[in-house]
Amino acid sequence: HHFLVINGPNLNALGQREPTIYGTNTLDSLENEVKTFGKERGCHVTCVQSNYEGKIIDWIHDAPKQYQGIVLNPAAFTHYSIAIRDALSSIDLPVIEVHISNVHQREAFRHKSVTAPVVIGQIVGLGFKGYTYALDYLLKTVQKEDK
Ligand code: DQA
Repeated sequence: HHFLVINGPNLNALGQREPTIYGTNTLDSLENEVKTFGKERGCHVTCVQSNYEGKIIDWIHDAPKQYQGIVLNPAAFTHYSIAIRDALSSIDLPVIEVHISNVHQREAFRHKSVTAPVVIGQIVGLGFKGYTYALDYLLKTVQKEDK
């Protein structure tokens, strides 16, 4: 199996960016953590990050050709990108939404997710661990389908 992890805008700055909220570990370490988790379970994980909405939309559109599921942190786009929501609705692939911080403890504008209604579920506030938990769920879901 092959899974795609997509990180949205400003997540390339993990480690430097608001460390009291997002921690001091980098995007590289996050990606290594999920890839290692996947490898230990015999699956392949590809990680991508972009600050551009259109690029994220293209990755979502192309994902069904290569991947069995997506772990997505749309970052700030979560709160207002109808275009990313529509892209998610256009594909038939399991997607889990992840947020590193507990968005519900933060500003009111972060409480709303326009993407959450069109994905399987959401993991918020568990730090980097949220990505591996999401991947674990996707793995178990596709393994069940294999049987
Ligand atoms: C975030 C939460 C968003 O509100 C914010 O814009 C981000 C990161 C998170 O992972 O906690 O960039 O998605």
